Amino acid sequence: MVTAILSALPEEQGGLAAALQEHATSDCAGRTFHTGTLHGQRVVLALSGIGKVAAAITATLLIERFGARRLIFTGVAGGLGKGVRVGDVVVARHTLQHDMDASPIFPRWELPLRGTALLACDTSLSALLLRAANASVAGASTRFSLENHAPARIHHGLIVSGDRFVSTARESALLRSGLLAAGHDALAVEMEGAAVAQACSDYGVPCAILRTISDRADDSAHVDFSRFVRDVASGYAERIVQALLPSLPR
Ligand code: ADE
Repeated sequence: MVTAILSALPEEQGGLAAALQEHATSDCAGRTFHTGTLHGQRVVLALSGIGKVAAAITATLLIERFGARRLIFTGVAGGLGKGVRVGDVVVARHTLQHDMDASPIFPRWELPLRGTALLACDTSLSALLLRAANASVAGASTRFSLENHAPARIHHGLIVSGDRFVSTARESALLRSGLLAAGHDALAVEMEGAAVAQACSDYGVPCAILRTISDRADDSAHVDFSRFVRDVASGYAERIVQALLPSLPR
């Protein structure tokens, strides 16, 4: 079975391409796809590009052209939930597109004609990803954390996606409180996950999404994000994916 490993930025994919055995590359739609094996699993690695459209196109290509039958997204996100700190990890239980708004025809955030705002990630794949994250991050003395020296925590819940880098405390507070009023307790915000989840849902391909918190989506988000992506992100992605792959069913 082919497993796709997808990230938005090269730094989020770490040294995984270099670790592939029987490594081959092919280009399609302006993207480079790396195929090979890792821990005995057939994998295809790709960068999604940034934003929902780019990510949906990449996910579709991974499924249609490269035969991906499960998809793992690793990358960074802004922390929204209380207690979701820089250096923590969030594994998505559900995703939601926070910039979807076809109201008043459909309720705010609902994906038109799907009857729901939420797209669920695959339960068993997410459980394996949580276990891999726990094994590789939690408890490690966290040189990973930029905020303080407490150990990184692993969270499981809602990740929201939209075509905006959320970079003020005011915007992130409004985003969080608006969603919370509708019963959606968002832990983290990023720009691709819900699009990948929608493509996977349409194809019936299981997906799981893991995001490391690079910033708090506040006024210093752009500085924290750049620093985290430069200095820290690749270490996380590589360790977690390397811990995950041996546990995946063949
Ligand atoms: N990815 C990482 N940080 C983010 C933020 N603050 N907003 C959107 N996507 C992000």
